[in-house]
Amino acid sequence: MAAMENQQQATWGGRFSEGPADLMLRFSESVSFDARLAPFDILVNKAHSAMLRHIGILTEEERDAIHRGLDQVAAKIERGEMEWDAKLEDVHMNIEQELTKLAPAAAKLHTARSRNDQVATDMRLFFKWACGQIDGALREVMAVLLKQADANRDVLIPGYTHLQRAQPVSVAHHLLACVEMFARDRRRFLQVREAANVCPLGSGAIAGTTIPIDREFTARELGFVDDAGHPKVTRNSMDAVADRDVFLEFASACALCGLHFSRVAEDMILWMSQEFRFADLPDAFCTGSSLMPQKKNPDAMELLRGKAARLQGNLQTLAVMVKGLPFTYNRDLQEDKPPVFDSFDQTLLSLQVLGQTLDGLKLRREVCARAVADPLLLATDLADWLVLEGVPFREAHHIVGRMVKLAEDSGRPIHEIPADEASRIHPALGGDWTGVFKLDQAMARRNGPGMPGPERIDAEIARWRGELSAASN
Ligand code: ARG
Repeated sequence: MAAMENQQQATWGGRFSEGPADLMLRFSESVSFDARLAPFDILVNKAHSAMLRHIGILTEEERDAIHRGLDQVAAKIERGEMEWDAKLEDVHMNIEQELTKLAPAAAKLHTARSRNDQVATDMRLFFKWACGQIDGALREVMAVLLKQADANRDVLIPGYTHLQRAQPVSVAHHLLACVEMFARDRRRFLQVREAANVCPLGSGAIAGTTIPIDREFTARELGFVDDAGHPKVTRNSMDAVADRDVFLEFASACALCGLHFSRVAEDMILWMSQEFRFADLPDAFCTGSSLMPQKKNPDAMELLRGKAARLQGNLQTLAVMVKGLPFTYNRDLQEDKPPVFDSFDQTLLSLQVLGQTLDGLKLRREVCARAVADPLLLATDLADWLVLEGVPFREAHHIVGRMVKLAEDSGRPIHEIPADEASRIHPALGGDWTGVFKLDQAMARRNGPGMPGPERIDAEIARWRGELSAASN
């Protein structure tokens, strides 16, 4: 059953004898999720009408009327007074119709363009903006990590492999590892921003236009320019309207960032557990149990793990949507927006939550000190000491293994095994090897590039601070 009244509403209604069914309207509308493109759509409309004036399709008065009208529409949207109409399908039609009420010249606005190149252009502007937003949030997380690394430079903890105690590290080294991950995310988002920086407008529906438009003019107006200010336009009209690579690249950068913040979250959950007790997270980002009065749960961190799964799902949605799609635009592609917007919203929100939670992270220094006092964390250092005494590493490894077993069997810490018993395992252990187990010295010896020695850590904190402040200029 089709509602006849819908027939007049559709801008493409000319060749139809009845309008779309109400069910079809509900099914096919996108304005419920693409209305957020309005600020970008208005920019694109302004640039396009300026270009149409430039090539003589619009008069100056018509262009100015359109620009004034667009400002009014933008203000109305900002005030929350715009009545988005699902019958008009999407953000583009809604804005155009609203504008036409204010400026009759808007009837000329859709000259030499299609919603296919229009939506591709809107989305590229969105991506450039969104990457900047996420970059800011990543910088804030990094700044908090640096602040905590700085405040906890002297706190040592066991580092883990296989979730078993391995070797001592500083909390700062651990937090700086997270800084490295997020720095890679920043670079990725900035690459996505660069990939988005090409203007598809003028590609039309598939094959451009017969009207002598000036694509470089529009690209320049919209800021699709290279470092030298030269306009960047897409090179093939079919690719330009079919291409969703930037969508996938953006969702992929979000998904990878999610993997990163979920790993940080998992470490915080472990640190807060009663089994570790290395740290406490701020009450403001934890919740209690409705049943067990003693509980304090790291829900924010758990949700970060959950959000990471959602980000993977969004990436998958986009990949499956594009797979095997015939050239060029197909309506399937309208479904590209919900996963992209969701990835943006959830990534940004997650990074804000991570930053604020980490800001309130409190290390329990005495618990950390007790955990890291385990001398077996320095068993490898003893093997290294033997190597420096001329013992081949494989042999040294075996010797220390026997020392560990002797310590365990006799219930003594390894560094308290008496000299005579040790030298029976290997003559080299007749020397003064117990100094190996002085933790401060053990850390100071790890001063090579990339290592957790205190001098290195100081230098790394200073280096990252410099990079972050340079980035914010
Ligand atoms: N709302 C549509 C989308 O988001 C705009 C493009 C519509 N193009 C078309 N030929 N129906 O993809």
